[in-house]
Amino acid sequence: MKHVPVLLEAVIQALGDVNGKTVIDATFGAGGYSRALLNAGATVIAFDRDPNVVDDVKKIRDEFKDKFRFIQQPFSFIHDLPDVYDAIVFDLGISSMQIDNPERGFSFRGDGPLDMRMAASGKSAADLIKDSSIDDLAQILREYGDIKKASILARAMKDTEPKTTFELKKLIRNPRDIAPVFQALRIAVNDEMGELTKALAVVPEKLKIGGKCICVTFHSIEDRIVKNIFRNWTTPVGDPRLPSVLAPRFVLMKTVTPSETELENNSRARSAHMRGVIKSY
Ligand SMILES: C[S@@+](CC[C@H](N)C(=O)[O-])C[C@H]1O[C@@H](n2cnc3c(N)ncnc32)[C@H](O)[C@@H]1O
Repeated sequence: MKHVPVLLEAVIQALGDVNGKTVIDATFGAGGYSRALLNAGATVIAFDRDPNVVDDVKKIRDEFKDKFRFIQQPFSFIHDLPDVYDAIVFDLGISSMQIDNPERGFSFRGDGPLDMRMAASGKSAADLIKDSSIDDLAQILREYGDIKKASILARAMKDTEPKTTFELKKLIRNPRDIAPVFQALRIAVNDEMGELTKALAVVPEKLKIGGKCICVTFHSIEDRIVKNIFRNWTTPVGDPRLPSVLAPRFVLMKTVTPSETELENNSRARSAHMRGVIKSY
C-alpha cells in the first residue's frame, strides 16, 4: 500500500508560509511531505537512506526540476550540508512500503528474510542476532521493546539464530510481545535512536534565525529524545536569578496529535506526536 503521510496538515500548518523558502525533508518515504512543501512553493532537499524510494524521487524530480534535490544518505548527513535552512522536518520510523513488503523483513505478518534494514548496507536483523551476545540482545529487547523476560527470549534467539521472520515469530511465546520484539530489532538494526540524536545535534547550526524544526515521532523512546532535546533548547541558560542568564535559543511550538478522523482513516497515525521549535537567535 502507498504510504499515507501522517500529520501532514499539522506539519504544513506549523511551518506556515514556505513559499520561496528552503526546507529539508529528512525522511522522504513516498514523498508526501516533500510534494506538499513543493506545491506550497518551497525548495526541498530530501533525505532517505532507502534506495527503493527512487521511483517516487524520479516523479517528483521530473515535476519540480531543480526545486527538488534528493540525497540517498542517512539523515545524520544533514551535518554535511553547507548552508542554513528555513526548516528541517523529520517524519520518523518506517513507511508502509517498507512494512508491507515481506522481502524487507520488517513485518511478522508475512514470511521473509529477517532483514529489517532501511538502507541496502549494514547488518541485517539475522546478522545482529548472530553477532550479539545474549546480554546485548536482551538489552535491545528490554530497552526498545519493553520485553519482560528478555533474557529467556534472547537465549532462544541465540540458540536458534532465526533467518526468517516466521522463524523469529515462532520463538516468541507471548503473542503480545511479537510486535514489540520486531520493533526493538528494527530500531537496533537501523540505529534509529543514534541517528536521531546525531541529526538533532546539528539542527541548531543548520537553521536560520526564525527557522523551524518539526519532528513527528511514533515510539515513546524517540518521542522522549525529541522532547528532552527540545526542552534543553527552549530552557534559559544559567541561573535565572542572575542578570547574565541567556534567553533560550528556541521557542517551543504546540505539540499536536492526530485527530479522531485521521486515526479512523490511517491506523499508522496511532501514537504519533508532532513536536516543533522555532530558532529565536
Ligand atoms: C514514515 S516514512 C516518511 C514518510 C514521508 N513523510 C511521506 O510523506 O511519504 C520514514 C522514511 O524515513 C526513512 N528514514 C528513517 N530513518 C532514516 C534515517 N536515519 N536517515 C534517512 N532516512 C531515514 C525511511 O527509510 C522511510 O522511508
